[in-house]
Amino acid sequence: MATIEVKTKSGTYQVRIGRGLLAHLSAELETALAGQKRPSTIAVVTESNVAPLHLTATVEALAPFGAKVIQHVFPAGETSKKLDTVAGILDFLAENRVTRSDLVVALGGGVTGDIAGFAAAIYLRGIRVVQIPTTLLAAIDSSVGGKTGVDLPAGKNLCGAFWQPSLVLCDPDLLKTLPQEILHDGVAEAIKYGVIGDRPLFDLLATQNLDEHLETVIERCVASKADIVARDEFDRGERALLNFGHTFAHAIEKCSGFAVSHGRAVGIGMVMMSRLAFQQGWTHEECAPAIATALQRYALPIATEFTPAQLLPYLLGDKKRSGKELTLVIPESIGRCVLHPIDVEEFQRLGK
Ligand code: GLY
Repeated sequence: MATIEVKTKSGTYQVRIGRGLLAHLSAELETALAGQKRPSTIAVVTESNVAPLHLTATVEALAPFGAKVIQHVFPAGETSKKLDTVAGILDFLAENRVTRSDLVVALGGGVTGDIAGFAAAIYLRGIRVVQIPTTLLAAIDSSVGGKTGVDLPAGKNLCGAFWQPSLVLCDPDLLKTLPQEILHDGVAEAIKYGVIGDRPLFDLLATQNLDEHLETVIERCVASKADIVARDEFDRGERALLNFGHTFAHAIEKCSGFAVSHGRAVGIGMVMMSRLAFQQGWTHEECAPAIATALQRYALPIATEFTPAQLLPYLLGDKKRSGKELTLVIPESIGRCVLHPIDVEEFQRLGK
C-alpha cells in the first residue's frame, strides 16, 4: 500500500494505491473525511462500460459507511465528455436532493473523472468528490490534480474548473479487467512522465515487464504529478510540462473524430514534438527514436496519417495558446523537458 499526499491551496488530500483497496472504501472515506461534515448521500457516477464491472462492488463497499447510495450511469466514450452529460449529472443530483455536505464518487476512466468532477465543482457551487480511477490513464494522471471539465465543439477540455478531490482511491486490481489496448493507452502517459522528469521510470517502461511493475509505475507517476501540482496547481507555469505531446495529441484526437484514443494520440504527439525539436536544434537526436521504441513495445502508434495542414486549425485552438503565443513542451533529453514559448506564426512556419 502506498500513500501519496497532494498539497493544494484548498488542502491536502491523499492518493491511496493498493491492491484490493476498493473493498475498504468506507474505512478510507472515514479517514479522508474525518473532522468534516458526514455525507448522508453518496452519488456514484460512472459510465456504461465500467458499471457492469465495478459498480456493484463499489456500492457494496460503501454500505458500512451508512449513507444513502445513489447511482448515475452515462454512455461510455469520449463523445460523452460534453456539457449535456454534465447537465444530466446535475439534474440527477438535484432530483435526488443531494446537498452541500454530500459526496460524488467518480468511478471510471478519464472521461468519468473529468465530467463527474466538473459536475461536483459546479453543483451548489461545489460539493466534495472522490476519484476512483479504473484505467491506468486515470490512475496516473487525470484523477490527480483537480482538473475537471468537458470538450467543446471547438476543442478538447475548453471548459472546466480546478476542483480537487477529497481522496483518490486507486486499486490496481480494477485495471485487471482492462483490455490490453486500453491499458497500453495509459502506458503512453506513463512514458510521458518518464520523459518529462523520471529517466529511471522511462528505462523501466522501455525494458521491463509492465505487469510486474504496475504499482511502481502508478506510484512514480502520481508522485511526479503531486510534486508538480503542489508547485503549480493552477497551471500557470511548470504544470504545462504534463502536456508534453498533448498539443499534437488533442489535434489528432479531434481530426480523427476521437477514433484515435487519447493515449495513442499522446504517444504520436510526443514523437512528433521530439522530431520537430530535433529539426530545430532544440534537442538531442536520441529523444524521438527512444520514445518511439518505447511506445512500440506496447504496440502504440508513432505517426499519424493527418497532414500538418489538417492538424493546424486544431493546434491553433489549443487551450494552452495565450494570445499570439503557444507553449511547446520540448524534451531536452529523456528525463528532462522544458517549456518553449513560441509565436503562433513562427510555429505555423515550422510545420510547413
Ligand atoms: N493532465 C495534465 C494536468 O493535469 O495538468
